[in-house]
Amino acid sequence: MAGKKLRSAEWFGRTGKDGFIYRSWMKNQGIPAHEFKGKPVIGICNTWSELTPCNAHFRELAESVKHGVYEAGGFPVEFPVMSLGETLIKPTAMLYRNLVSMDVEESIRANPLDGVVLLCGCDKTTPSLIMGACSVNIPTIVVSGGAMLTGKYQGRDIGTSDVWRFSDAQRSGRMSEQEMNVAEACMSRSRGHCAVMGTASTMAVMTEALGLSLPENAAIPAADSRRKVLAHLSGMRIVDMVRDDLKLSDVLTLKAFENAILTNAAIGGSTNFIIHLLAIAGRIGINLTIDDFDTAAKGIPLLANLQPSGKYFMEDLYYAGGIPAVMKELDAFLNRETITVSGKPISENYQNSECFNREVIATVNEPFNLAAGITVLKGNLCAYGAVIKPSAANAILMQHTGKAVVFENIEDYKARIDDPLLDVDADSVLVLKNVGPKGYPGMPEVGNMAIPKKLLEKGVTDLVRISDGRMSGTGFGTVVLHVSPEAAVGGTIAIVQDGDLITLDVLNKTLHVELSDVEIDERKKQLEPFNALTNRGYTWLYQQNVEQAHLGADFGFLKGASGSGVLRDSH
Ligand code: FES
Ligand code: MG
Repeated sequence: MAGKKLRSAEWFGRTGKDGFIYRSWMKNQGIPAHEFKGKPVIGICNTWSELTPCNAHFRELAESVKHGVYEAGGFPVEFPVMSLGETLIKPTAMLYRNLVSMDVEESIRANPLDGVVLLCGCDKTTPSLIMGACSVNIPTIVVSGGAMLTGKYQGRDIGTSDVWRFSDAQRSGRMSEQEMNVAEACMSRSRGHCAVMGTASTMAVMTEALGLSLPENAAIPAADSRRKVLAHLSGMRIVDMVRDDLKLSDVLTLKAFENAILTNAAIGGSTNFIIHLLAIAGRIGINLTIDDFDTAAKGIPLLANLQPSGKYFMEDLYYAGGIPAVMKELDAFLNRETITVSGKPISENYQNSECFNREVIATVNEPFNLAAGITVLKGNLCAYGAVIKPSAANAILMQHTGKAVVFENIEDYKARIDDPLLDVDADSVLVLKNVGPKGYPGMPEVGNMAIPKKLLEKGVTDLVRISDGRMSGTGFGTVVLHVSPEAAVGGTIAIVQDGDLITLDVLNKTLHVELSDVEIDERKKQLEPFNALTNRGYTWLYQQNVEQAHLGADFGFLKGASGSGVLRDSH
């Protein structure tokens, strides 16, 4: 602790009335006096909630962190923040990501904390906590909650990506409601988050590749006792990080972000990765743009054979060697010297790792798929960008021209998608408007529109689908997402009409509607002004301040950091 005064000493180290107040009420929890004598105070930022089933085991995980903190001579204090469960929250958990980040930022800064352990699991709980912590920038380590064990249904392995398959099967009469009920129990048979490479797993991998967690963090299943061991070790490590004053800004360099982007490509991570990493970069002051995510040019193939791009599950990834084995394979591409929360270069995290199953983690020389990562599209339909995940898409639709079938908003889509009179065929391009950050609001995961029933019955399994919304990381298909600017701010997507020809060309990274600039401008003049759904509260604040998807959909006023200093003393 080489002479540096602990931040918490401004509370617990005080004399007189102030010190009395800061310590006395804490002592009502049965804390002995010596805990306040110059020990690093470690906040455990907990997103436990029974409404966030993916994180419902986190109080137990927090106990393991506490054991580690005590062992290393620190003083742990657990505190709650708003928790975002992907499955229950309406209209979408994404609406509240920025709100949680504010909760986290202010909770850390306002309290006597020297370091923080972030307990993250379900999709949005990871980026919101990291974003908030970045804006304070004290020593911070992430412990992820781990994925569920692989689901088992009628003798086969299942995970969240099967929800989309089951839904199609039910809509086309191949699966009954009763079978659906059995399957839902079979899929979620243990604690933890989605067991495929959806957004939660992607966020856990991002965390490990950025160097924000100890090695192995991303893939240990939630139910595996080694998850608790990792939590314990992380509790020990954060105390030393405080002593070394190893802050988030020391770990989150541009090179660390590059490592995360390359690793995300190799594992077939979620498209949501882009939005969240952009937002994190904005908080820590790293200048990242959407173009930095175009990994196609960088020669990174898909190494992990995981759903939704491949076959296997997070449990398989762990047994095959986890993210250290993936990163070892990527060694030639990575920035080896970036410092992680361990205080050591990231290459030390993986250099002694081994791959135990080449079916699950392929080699760079014999990759699972050459198509990897994310392609950033530009064109008159998406001047600031749109994204597609080629590994989860259909090769024959990668260069495709088709007639637009337009849905003005989510209600219009739900009302008409299965209408037998819908004028749609296998070459059509589905366009869904007003599901962007401002338009919905909150940019929900509805971009992977269902295949119209009448096409499903003819055996059509994929269509080009375009929207200003997002897609669940567990989803798949030839789905163009995050069209920016969105319809609600007058983006070109707003003026697309039924029958317009749209050309998607993933090879040349373009997305065009075959209309002249003059026609586009004429139609834009006819657009009705955007009508916000509410004029008060958080949703109003959100619609006023949210930035476009290509910037990370953060609030403009939250960009950057205010540091760890408090404005004024209390009492
Ligand atoms: Fe929580 Fe998928 S619903 S991770
Ligand atoms: Mg999700």
